[in-house]
Amino acid sequence: MHIESASCIDDLRRAAQARIPRFAYTFLAGGAGNDAGVRRNESALAALLFAPRSMATGRIDTQVELFGRRYAQPIGFSPVGMANLAWAGCDLMLAEAAQREEVPYVISTAASTEIERLAEQAPDACWFQLYMLRDDALNAALLDRAAAAGIEVLVVTVDTPARSRRNGSIRERFEQPFQAHPRFILDVMRHPHWALRTARHGMPNLRNYVRYVDGDVHKVAAFMKEQARGGVGWDDIRMLRRRWKGPLVVKGILDACDAQRAVEEGADAVWVSNHGGRQLESAPAAITMLPAVRQAVGTRPVLFDSGVRGGEDIVKAGALGATMAFCGRAPIFGAAAFGAAGVAKAFAVLADEVRTTLAQIGCRRFADLSPAFILDPVAAGRMPETATPAVRAA
Ligand SMILES: Cc1cc2nc3c(=O)[nH]c(=O)nc-3n(C[C@H](O)[C@H](O)[C@H](O)COP(=O)(O)O)c2cc1C
Repeated sequence: MHIESASCIDDLRRAAQARIPRFAYTFLAGGAGNDAGVRRNESALAALLFAPRSMATGRIDTQVELFGRRYAQPIGFSPVGMANLAWAGCDLMLAEAAQREEVPYVISTAASTEIERLAEQAPDACWFQLYMLRDDALNAALLDRAAAAGIEVLVVTVDTPARSRRNGSIRERFEQPFQAHPRFILDVMRHPHWALRTARHGMPNLRNYVRYVDGDVHKVAAFMKEQARGGVGWDDIRMLRRRWKGPLVVKGILDACDAQRAVEEGADAVWVSNHGGRQLESAPAAITMLPAVRQAVGTRPVLFDSGVRGGEDIVKAGALGATMAFCGRAPIFGAAAFGAAGVAKAFAVLADEVRTTLAQIGCRRFADLSPAFILDPVAAGRMPETATPAVRAA
């Protein structure tokens, strides 16, 4: 497929699937178990319909105010570990695009490029996502590095209390400890663009840990496994609140009580997410849980991801209470399909779809979205209580 012919994120996904090895595509696109959670996120968003209004005029305004800053679009890039496995240089491409488009890019603890390098590339766009490790000195060191790199927003991910079983990756035998096997070698050889580029850039590694472990990708991966924590608790959130001066976001919330407690413990925002269906196969679709979380935290910012594959999804999330929607896989499908131009294409498609959707449903400002723009199938066709007496009588 030529990049000019790619019309939507799903076109980029298919182009990515054709261009990169199967094990890498499965790592990126797959989820927990047999991927039912990934599909549920997408289908729950697709099942929502809009309740469009007519006669709205004026300029479309997609800006979002968040943590005292103005972002140009309600679209952010979620933290993605080992993204360079999808396409060498992917992390930097995402950071660069975020800086250019004036949107946030969240650096993962498990990124394949160092915090410092990404923050240098995108000084206004970078946030930092922490996976809490067993060794508290390491957590402190990571936070110090993020702060020293000028990062203001800290995201702590709380939905990985256990390693998840991803059957697709198990079938590809892409698991720790990894060992190349004949099918893997054939898979790589069949995708020469990916193979040559990856050989030139070097095998992706968990770059943020490299300075703490003396060794290759296998040693670093073993280190991360050994450092993995069995969950994050409220005392951890309190400790992070004391330690981090800037905005603190708790990512991986699917429950209204958890959301409320996170705010009480000092979080500035919660992030509704089921990790893109990668942790618990039978988790509810994240969009299903968004309205209750919005209600629980009042006017605090609520961030959202999991299943966003188009601008309509972003507008639906906005209508159900998200201050901003984030994408994990969508821009990376772009990178894997067409490199930096593919990331730019993914972003352009999403931004254009957001604009068109806002115009089409009769809401000129993203910030003015409300649940009234989502069709309630039970109430559909009934005259709403808010209609004026003249309209009711007509
Ligand atoms: C390959 C991959 C790696 C990920 N790594 C991380 C990570 O390091 N930290 C994190 O908080 N979330 C991680 N996530 C989850 C994303 O931040 C995000 O929640 C998810 O991708 C959103 O769903 P979507 O891909 O459907 O947009 C990862 C997701 C993918 C696809």
